[in-house]
Amino acid sequence: MKVLVTGGAGYIGSHTALELLHAGHEVVVIDNLCNSSLESLKRVELLTNKTITFYQVDIRDGDEISNVLAQHPDINATIHFAALKAVGESTQIPLKYYQNNVYGTLTLLEALQKAKITNFVFSSSATVYGEEAPVPYVETLKTGIPSSAYGKSKLMIEQILSDLVKSDPSFKVACLRYFNPIGAHESGMIGEDPNGIPNNLMPFVAQVAVGKRDKLSIFGNDYPTNDGTCERDYLHVVDLAHGHVKALEWLEKQSNGICEAFNLGTGNPLSVLEIVNEFSKVTNVNIPYEYAPQREGDLPAFWANADKAKVELNWTADKSLEDMMKDTWHWQSSNPQGYGK
Ligand code: NAD
Ligand code: UD1
Repeated sequence: MKVLVTGGAGYIGSHTALELLHAGHEVVVIDNLCNSSLESLKRVELLTNKTITFYQVDIRDGDEISNVLAQHPDINATIHFAALKAVGESTQIPLKYYQNNVYGTLTLLEALQKAKITNFVFSSSATVYGEEAPVPYVETLKTGIPSSAYGKSKLMIEQILSDLVKSDPSFKVACLRYFNPIGAHESGMIGEDPNGIPNNLMPFVAQVAVGKRDKLSIFGNDYPTNDGTCERDYLHVVDLAHGHVKALEWLEKQSNGICEAFNLGTGNPLSVLEIVNEFSKVTNVNIPYEYAPQREGDLPAFWANADKAKVELNWTADKSLEDMMKDTWHWQSSNPQGYGK
């Protein structure tokens, strides 16, 4: 297959590009590099000894997308990662998030519809279940109201995709609802390289470990969980990347007019303290931490029921917690400044 990957230079996109190439597919990436570096894709090429076709294109530019598609009439499917994803920032500048994520996706879909490229995998998030959903989250639950503009943009796109499929059954769509992807490729050559102070737990821990930050603040130790810290479903980014290859294969076998959501997680909740302790155990690096107040918008605990992905996509998250920690450390210690972007 030849696959169009939007946002392919980013964290999950670069790992997925690598797995697509390993699986024998061709990859065309469009990315405006607003939160990534071309270096990630150069490293994927080195790791695979294969070539990626790259275009620095913004998904809000329909003409540019159509130009790319005209040069590749043999593209069979799209994996759509391109989005802004900082939850806190999305609350401060919601219009920018809706413009980039929602308008960007609409523009992309119009160009794909014109070009008749109708197999589509979307990067969604567990946040679409909203704040009231019972755990573990299962796809049969109704979606809720996400707390942030970022989360709402993901839910809106799922709804747009569902309407699109109803109106144009030539489309086949898989919405992949990620839980908490962490880790890096085992080579240590590609990984997560956030701008500025990391918002997410794992990159913060990794930056404390290399001495870039003094200590971790654990947001809340008074939650109704075993050790009082929040619980999440952390999965290895390489497992997540495999999930995209599986979703593409699944789409190929479906009849037209399908739009399905899949949880991609391990099904096992882990607390912030468990993550910090496991990281120290696996790497032998102590992580100084202090308890801080709860972070606004955080839920005490959520994790996936991942049965649907297992049964229908033939996908499970196989890598261990130890792999997640080891690979995070390998990437961060070999690249203390990330890609140096
Ligand atoms: P990332 O920021 O590393 O990757 C996103 C990529 O999209 C970047 O390379 C960025 O430059 C590009 N991009 C953004 N806006 C664009 C635009 N208008 N035009 C072209 N390119 C654009 O983020 P990631 O962690 O790899 O996330 C990938 C996708 O997965 C996103 O849609 C994100 O919302 C979703 N997601 C991520 C997580 C997570 O924990 N990382 C969880 C759930 C869902
Ligand atoms: C967050 C987003 C979610 C998004 C996901 C991936 C919120 C409320 N949710 O999920 O919508 O899909 O990122 O981008 O922001 N923690 C600390 N100290 C830190 C950082 C985090 O204690 O410095 C804790 C958090 O309180 C949380 C856990 O670590 O309990 C995981 O946090 P994080 O990695 O930010 O992911 P989520 O909050 O689950």
